Amino acid sequence: MARKFFVGGNFKMNGTLASLQKLVADLNSAQLSSDSEVVIAPPSLYVLPLKELVRKDVAVGAQNAHIEVSGAFTGEISPKQLHEEGVPWVILGHSERRSLFHESHEIVGKKTKAALDVGLNVILCVGETLQEREAGRTIQVVESQLVAVAKEIKDWSKIVIAYEPVWAIGTGKVATPEQAQEVHKDIRSWIVQNIGETVAESIRVIYGGSVTAANSIELAKQLDIDGFLVGGASLKPEFVDIINSKNKTNKL
Ligand code: 13P
Repeated sequence: MARKFFVGGNFKMNGTLASLQKLVADLNSAQLSSDSEVVIAPPSLYVLPLKELVRKDVAVGAQNAHIEVSGAFTGEISPKQLHEEGVPWVILGHSERRSLFHESHEIVGKKTKAALDVGLNVILCVGETLQEREAGRTIQVVESQLVAVAKEIKDWSKIVIAYEPVWAIGTGKVATPEQAQEVHKDIRSWIVQNIGETVAESIRVIYGGSVTAANSIELAKQLDIDGFLVGGASLKPEFVDIINSKNKTNKL
């Protein structure tokens, strides 16, 4: 079964309402390949206005959500409120959340369960630091992040896994296609062994970390790279080329 190419734009805490409206207007008039599923994740304040504005073949997502659905959690984003407002996606476990906001593997697992329970789709981020890579622990780290999620959930059908090596995020230092493919393949093997072959065949494993229009085609050619989670370049016109990059490969 062919996996539909998936491209997410993580705007992080960038832009103004006006600048992002302009960005969405440009996206609306661009030629986007129907072979790619596209999700944009604006800052939470702008998710709903941009959802109204964006073309119907592009979905919106939040960049975070809490474990609980409501209550005394000042400043948090409720997964249930997202779902009720028609926001279909949420990014969870981003390395900036893990490192700067101290989200443990366990918390990310529980957040994933909470999001799925209310009906959201999840872009689940995993990835190693430079120190962990240099210590030869890449796959071990990624697996432990996946294990924490597997403890909480059974159904992986609404999950896209984003492999984002921390050393490649916002650094301009992209993983080589071979480096990325190696980890994506390992992730898929882990899924075969721990979740099941059918899930391993159908789940999208996307790459994030300094993706640009200049490197996306070579990355997209890799067998186990099913798309991208794009930070900085999602705020630029080249995001369109990244979305369309799969069509420049011979991949089915
Ligand atoms: P950059 O594309 O800016 O490296 O960010 C990647 C990322 O963190 C997407 O979630």
